[in-house]
Amino acid sequence: MKHRIDEAGVWNNNHIIEIVNLFKVYRGGVDVKALDNINLVIEEGEFLAIVGPSGSGKSTLLNMIGLLDTPTSGKILLKGIDITQISADERARLRNRELGFVFQYHHLLPEFTALENVMMPMLIAGVKKEEARATALQFLEDVGLGDRINSRPNQLSGGQNQRVAVARALANHPSVVIGDELTGNLDTKTSDLIYDLLRKLNKKINQTFILVTHDTELAEKTDRILRIVDGKLVCEMRREGDRFVSTEVCQTAEAE
Ligand SMILES: Nc1ncnc2c1ncn2[C@@H]1O[C@H](COP(=O)(O)OP(=O)(O)OP(=O)(O)O)[C@@H](O)[C@H]1O
Ligand SMILES: [Mg+2]
Repeated sequence: MKHRIDEAGVWNNNHIIEIVNLFKVYRGGVDVKALDNINLVIEEGEFLAIVGPSGSGKSTLLNMIGLLDTPTSGKILLKGIDITQISADERARLRNRELGFVFQYHHLLPEFTALENVMMPMLIAGVKKEEARATALQFLEDVGLGDRINSRPNQLSGGQNQRVAVARALANHPSVVIGDELTGNLDTKTSDLIYDLLRKLNKKINQTFILVTHDTELAEKTDRILRIVDGKLVCEMRREGDRFVSTEVCQTAEAE
C-alpha cells in the first residue's frame, strides 16, 4: 500500500478521505449497529453518491466524516489526519476550513438572514466582512436566491432554506462538501440548477462532493455510487462513460 504520510509527516497522496474499519454503535435499550465495518477511500476531486434504505446508516456516516460525531471504533483520515484522534479545537478548525456540510434538516440560524447565514462560516474563518458579503451574494445568486438575501429561515420555503444551506456550505471553498439530501426538497428544475453548480465547482476547483441521496437521478449523475445497507457497504458502482459498472465490492458482499 502506498504510504499516506511521508517521513516528514506530510500528506502525500490524493486520498482526501480514508476510512478504516469504522464502526458506530448507538447504545440504548437495544444497541443499534449503525455502521458495521466501513472501509472506504475517497480521492480528491471525486463526485460521489451514497444511497441506501432509510435507517441504513448514511447520515451516521456523513456525521462522522463531517466531524459532528465520533465513531465507536475505527479511523477516518482527512488529508492524512486521523480526525478521530484530534482535539476539539482542531476538529472545529477542520470543520470550518475543510468541510462544507448541507444537513438533512438545514440547520440555519433562525435569527439571521439568508445573507448572514451564508457569511457566517467565512467570518469565523477570518474573511473580511466585505469580501464575505460579496462571496455570499454570489453564491446566493448561483442558487437562485438573489432576490431573497434579507429573508430569515422562517420566511423561506423548505427548498429555499435548503438552497441557502448549499450556498453556506460552498462559500468557504471547503475541500470536501458533504450533502445529506441536498436536493431533497427541490423540484427537478432547481435540483438541476444546484447539480450544475456543484459539478462546475467540482471541475473548476477539483472540489470533492459526497452526496447522500434518495434521488436516483441525482445519484446517476455522479461518478461513483456507494450503497449502504444495515451499516455495511454492500455495493459500489463506478462510472464508465455514460454507464455504471459494479466493482468487486458487490460480488464480495453478495457472496457473504
Ligand atoms: N442518536 C441516535 N441514537 C440511537 N440510534 C440512532 C441515533 N442516530 C441514528 N440512530 C440509528 O442508527 C441507524 C442509522 O441511522 P441514520 O440516520 O444514519 O440512517 P439514514 O441512512 O440516514 O436514514 P434516512 O434515509 O432515513 O435519513 C438507524 O437505525 C437509526 O435509528
Ligand atoms: Mg439520513
